[in-house]
Amino acid sequence: MSDLKIPYVNLKAQWETERSELLPIIESVLESGNYIGGEVVDQFEIAISNFLGSPYCVAVNSCTDALVLGLSALGVRRGDEVITPPNSFIASTAAIVHLGATPVFVDVLPSQSIDPNLVEKAITKKTKAIMPVHLGGRMVDMEKISRIAENYGIAVIEDAAQSIGSTFNGKLSGTFGDVGCFSAHPLKNLNALGDGGFICFKSEEMAEEVKKLRSHGLVDRNTVEMFGYVSRLDALQAAVLTFRLTKLAATIKSRRANADLYRSLLNPDFVFIPDDDSREQNSYHTFVVQVDRRDELVAHLLSSGIGTAIHYPIPIHLQPAAKFLGFGPGSFPVTEAQAKRIVTLPINQSLSQSEITQVSNVINDFYFRMH
Ligand SMILES: Cc1ncc(COP(=O)(O)O)c(C=O)c1O
Repeated sequence: MSDLKIPYVNLKAQWETERSELLPIIESVLESGNYIGGEVVDQFEIAISNFLGSPYCVAVNSCTDALVLGLSALGVRRGDEVITPPNSFIASTAAIVHLGATPVFVDVLPSQSIDPNLVEKAITKKTKAIMPVHLGGRMVDMEKISRIAENYGIAVIEDAAQSIGSTFNGKLSGTFGDVGCFSAHPLKNLNALGDGGFICFKSEEMAEEVKKLRSHGLVDRNTVEMFGYVSRLDALQAAVLTFRLTKLAATIKSRRANADLYRSLLNPDFVFIPDDDSREQNSYHTFVVQVDRRDELVAHLLSSGIGTAIHYPIPIHLQPAAKFLGFGPGSFPVTEAQAKRIVTLPINQSLSQSEITQVSNVINDFYFRMH
């Protein structure tokens, strides 16, 4: 997958540790001849429901579709406004745009989480929903967001694509809002072997509507109740996810241990690591630090055989696709400043303590030599 000494991700290593358990699971799905829908998908929905403690979960083919279908179930339509941060992955905003609604961006805190005080200021008569994003597994202050939403009678749809298993005051991400949307993309902590996603709802009615929408609006083999989409999680991915859900706690535990080790090793004079909120348990889908001379550091790490990533170098409001919204440089200063300083370090569960130590040493040495 990568020739780097310490790659940013290592899905091959994950496969090697799971191979003997996963192959029979894959084989049984292939032998069943049932590849779309059916019992295996139902079982995954039950497993994820039990994990989240949320009775109404619907498997779909991606978090992007989860967001579109979730917003649609909330009644978001053309002309409505949805409040969301501009520092997320493009899919959060794309889902709003696909429904003809208007994304209303709100800048973020030093931690990269949406600023709840600015959320309140951005509410208008047209605001239909707030979409907080638990970026990298870090929890948005859901106490504040829920209070604001309640006060104004606005729905909350959590973009929990990156935060399965994170908690705030002991409550799991995605279970605070009316709708919680999750990704099972191969790079996520609970990952499929291709695209995948799921949604949890507070309302049974919305879950039932989305079950129809995800499959052409069909209510039986031949009857279409509404024009829908094709957004089903296939049986193979559902089986893999049901298996991997049993490993999620261990995955999060090792990522959290890796984060703790980075915190103890990286020199705070050079590397800013936002503190975790005392009320949260961050699942560390990513470990993002903020540094000066970011691009030079990334190049230096690469030449030392260490892979990194940047989530995300171009804020959404500055993407060519978002030009029609009319923003420019300076519109969201915190997001824009962070986009130049953020770098995501390798944190995956296959890394050893010695590898985390090597990465930290290379970073500390890089800045030490410059001073
Ligand atoms: C914050 C966020 N939202 C939405 C998505 C979309 O997820 P998917 O790739 O499953 O469509 C992603 C994917 O990386 C994401 O990071």
